[in-house]
Amino acid sequence: MVNKQIKSKQRVANHGEVFTNEREVKAMCDLVADECDRIDSRFLEPACGDGNFLAEVLKRKLNRVKQLYKTNTYDYERYSVLAISSIYGVDILKDNAAECRARLFAIWNKEYQKVCKKSCSNETRQAVKYILSQNILCGNALTMMQVDENQQDTDTPIIFPEWSLFMGTKLKRRDFRLDVLLKANTKPEENKEISLLDDDKYLSRNPVTGEKMADPIKIYPAVHYKKIMEAQ
Ligand SMILES: C[S@@+](CC[C@H](N)C(=O)[O-])C[C@H]1O[C@@H](n2cnc3c(N)ncnc32)[C@H](O)[C@@H]1O
Repeated sequence: MVNKQIKSKQRVANHGEVFTNEREVKAMCDLVADECDRIDSRFLEPACGDGNFLAEVLKRKLNRVKQLYKTNTYDYERYSVLAISSIYGVDILKDNAAECRARLFAIWNKEYQKVCKKSCSNETRQAVKYILSQNILCGNALTMMQVDENQQDTDTPIIFPEWSLFMGTKLKRRDFRLDVLLKANTKPEENKEISLLDDDKYLSRNPVTGEKMADPIKIYPAVHYKKIMEAQ
């Protein structure tokens, strides 16, 4: 959405949907400029709307990829895939999540075409669309559950994949529950607020520091990033 902060009064009343202006988005991203420039630093926007913040972060990451790899399409492609795979979002409204995915894909694809020209591959485009389908979810960031068409919680928790490049062109995928990730990063006295789990399932302790760590709920075999949708 360009320069329009509100879709309807109803949506503002029901969901507090007021989009952030570009100027404020850029100013806030400037506060974490180093992280935005790091290709694989992970960003999660828990009420992402149509992706104002995620779009800006992606543009900055892709600028960095271009600075480093614009003369080598092989490297540009795999690092641009890594950049987009590090961006995560949740919105309770299905249309917002869909618009966010489409917007991030368009940003990525425009740069991809500019840099890789004739070496662009539709297989890579499909892989990026698949990654976005897993990273930008329709869910309730307060209960940390996925929601249905009527914004009601389903029985499925919000689950995000962690993607990491491995042996040059392979992507490793490990899935984590969002509630567990937050629990692992929350002080014990704050745990009551987000205690969705009966016990510490999917949590373990770092053997060195003793701190709680989230355990993946699923680990996939590493596959070439172009074939990522086949790693089930
Ligand atoms: C104030 S808007 C901000 C959108 C975007 N972050 C931006 O700055 O442009 C709040 C967004 O949160 C979404 N939202 C409201 N309640 C939510 C919830 N419980 N879980 C996830 N998203 C929610 C709304 O649909 C809306 O898109």
